[in-house]
Amino acid sequence: MENADTVTDLTAPMGPLAYFLDLHPDLGDFRADAIEGLSKPEKCISPKYFYDERGSKLFQRITSLEEYYPTRTERSVFLDNAREICDAIGDGAAIFEYGSGASEKIAWLLKGLKDPAAYVAMDISKDHLIESASAIAEETQLPVAAICADFHAPVRLPEGVLPEAKRWLGFFPGSTIGNMLPETAVAFLTRASETLGPDAKFLIGVDLEKNPAVLNAAYNDREGITAEFNFNLLRRMRRELDAVLKIEDFEHYAFYNEELNRIEMHLRALRPTTITIDQHEFSFAQGETLHTENSHKYSMDRLNALFAQTPWRLEAAWKAPQDWFAACLLSNG
Ligand code: AVJ
Repeated sequence: MENADTVTDLTAPMGPLAYFLDLHPDLGDFRADAIEGLSKPEKCISPKYFYDERGSKLFQRITSLEEYYPTRTERSVFLDNAREICDAIGDGAAIFEYGSGASEKIAWLLKGLKDPAAYVAMDISKDHLIESASAIAEETQLPVAAICADFHAPVRLPEGVLPEAKRWLGFFPGSTIGNMLPETAVAFLTRASETLGPDAKFLIGVDLEKNPAVLNAAYNDREGITAEFNFNLLRRMRRELDAVLKIEDFEHYAFYNEELNRIEMHLRALRPTTITIDQHEFSFAQGETLHTENSHKYSMDRLNALFAQTPWRLEAAWKAPQDWFAACLLSNG
């Protein structure tokens, strides 16, 4: 693992931002990763490659589909319990958001918290990050910092550039933790506990297990937007890697794996076919798949077991009706 110190490049304050730090996240090498993933006995590719411009737009459309409950369910859990959540966090907290994206999920927190000290947005996409964090700084008049980094890489809090906070609050919404394998989630949470320090808290949105019919519908919407989101990987391979493949030889395949408690998304070959990248030809037997994503769905028991392997303990949880989604407040130590 790279030492954060060696990659620190502190740029002068930018516009309304109190601080901007570029850790030059490794955006990944799509070509190398695609070839590596397609070479495995069980072909796979990281879901991070979904999110080019078209993929990000498709994901936005997914979030407003009738079948895709997570985004709106999380929003209501946060909004319906905003007062209680903010009281539990306490006054004078500085917020550190992991994967802040468009910073559209932070408004209720900044509004509801008592005397928030600062907001730090961290995201892998630099231009987007500077734009969104600057807008928040202007709107809220709070001290705002931005860190361009991958949340899987080690980061340190900005030092000496923000007002002293009573405590740090990590914020990780969107059930993005569900896309990690449980052991990766443990490593991520452990690293976050070191970053945020002794009295920190961490507010996480987690999608919970439910009737598989509901889960299967959420990842197999009738309009086929999720399918198109999945196919976008193949389109990207063609566009960016000059891959030779027939999209019509594949189908979107998403199902709830009840043993591993996760939705799996795959691209499944409808007939024997190949994907060729450079001089590498990868063959698919009929029915063989390229595994594109996992989305874990937790029970509170399995969540507690996960947290038990980290320095965090679950202080409180607020759940959506029918236990569809949980907002978990963790405290460090
Ligand atoms: C935003 C990554 C949490 O796993 O539900 C939506 C992505 N994949 N439909 C999820 C996604 C298929 C989403 N995450």
